[in-house]
Amino acid sequence: MTKYYHITTYGCQMNVHESEKIAGILSELGYTACDDIEQSDIAVFNTCCIRENAENHAFGNIGMLKKLKAKKRDMIIAVGGCLTQQMGKADDLHTKFPYVDIIFGTHNLGDLKNLILKKRGQKRAVIEIAESEGEICEGENPLRTSFPNAWINITYGCNNFCSYCIVPYVRGRERSRRSENIIKEAEELIEQGYKEITLLGQNVNSYANGTDDLSFPELLKKIAAIDGKFRLRFMTSHPKDFSEELAKVIAENRKICRLVHLPVQSGSDSVLRAMNRKYTSADYLKKLEILKKYVPDCAVTTDLIVGFPNESEEDFAATLNLVKKAEFASAFTFVYSKREGTVAARMEGQIPEDISKSRIMRLVEAVNAQTREQTARYVGKTVEVLCEDYDAKREKYLGRDEYGRMAYFASEKNVIGEFVNVKISGANGVSLKGEIVKG
Ligand code: 5AD
Ligand code: SF4
Repeated sequence: MTKYYHITTYGCQMNVHESEKIAGILSELGYTACDDIEQSDIAVFNTCCIRENAENHAFGNIGMLKKLKAKKRDMIIAVGGCLTQQMGKADDLHTKFPYVDIIFGTHNLGDLKNLILKKRGQKRAVIEIAESEGEICEGENPLRTSFPNAWINITYGCNNFCSYCIVPYVRGRERSRRSENIIKEAEELIEQGYKEITLLGQNVNSYANGTDDLSFPELLKKIAAIDGKFRLRFMTSHPKDFSEELAKVIAENRKICRLVHLPVQSGSDSVLRAMNRKYTSADYLKKLEILKKYVPDCAVTTDLIVGFPNESEEDFAATLNLVKKAEFASAFTFVYSKREGTVAARMEGQIPEDISKSRIMRLVEAVNAQTREQTARYVGKTVEVLCEDYDAKREKYLGRDEYGRMAYFASEKNVIGEFVNVKISGANGVSLKGEIVKG
């Protein structure tokens, strides 16, 4: 009888790729994917704790499984990811949801197969939260779900300790994979027909720092030199480590997309200082200037936080001002979320919710207006789009250009995984629409 698995993923791209690794492990154990959690024999929650709402969301969903588990006693429920790794949270989870069978930490993913086998042989819950990172796992066999895009981890963890951020506490210190393993993985993926490779790390710019391995720009160069037509992306870059050498490498290698995600977080120098970001808004703009000197058409996207402790109206105005100056192609905007254990959580001057709400609304409006203006400039142009999917509701294929803009278009044949030229006829907020034209 077929046994089914269902994975619920919260949070970032990094977690999406981690869920692909979990899927690989589950399929090795003989499970098949299913869309309906009620059908599953094992349900895994890959959680995120970067902001409180991601955490609440996971808690809510796990809570909803109580009834199902009472009906399906043999079903296994496993909870992993950042949430479980927070101090005391595994015990909280176990107390609140005693029907959860397996709780595993961010450093225990490589051991998930054994944890499942252990649980099958015992009644009580299996709880494994390793405190330290251990060796980097190689030879993982992710079951990729995003063809023609593929993600490759290049670093794990983070050493930056931005004062608001929980990541260094739950993902551990920064570790880099050996470049030969990364290059081999990229070669295999391109050989298999993947058309877009995204290198992942909390701060890819500090890849292999302090080791004898390649620097990040050197690594990019090597991957871009692999034969075949494909795109190369990377995320995330910390502005303090963004170098002129990297800008040059982007300029010199056409396979590297002209899109850099460079989170600035705030436009106010005093907030940036309190955030421990190690740059000023002028330093940030200087980095953009260097990037644009080598790659004038490079799109830049960013992350922004409002409502950081002690953020004044003037500080917020500086963020709005920076958004204008930096001409971001788009931005992820967040309300500051207090994370227990971080330095910012202990700061006085936490901002009341109504003020944060008003600021986020104004910020979203400013960012959206800019994005709309930029997408409108596309109309009439022809862009090369890598087709990623089919949207059955709209009856259109969709994909992105190298600058990351999403475009919808009709096609009689299935073009998923192909590069197509699309003449843009209209822009709708963040996305574009158009028709395929011969290249
Ligand atoms: N509150 C709000 N946003 C946060 N981020 C990280 N930690 C927090 C927090 N405590 C945002 C940052 C980061 C992105 C991945 O999440 O903007 O770049
Ligand atoms: Fe968090 Fe800062 Fe590390 Fe990014 S660089 S993961 S924001 S601590």
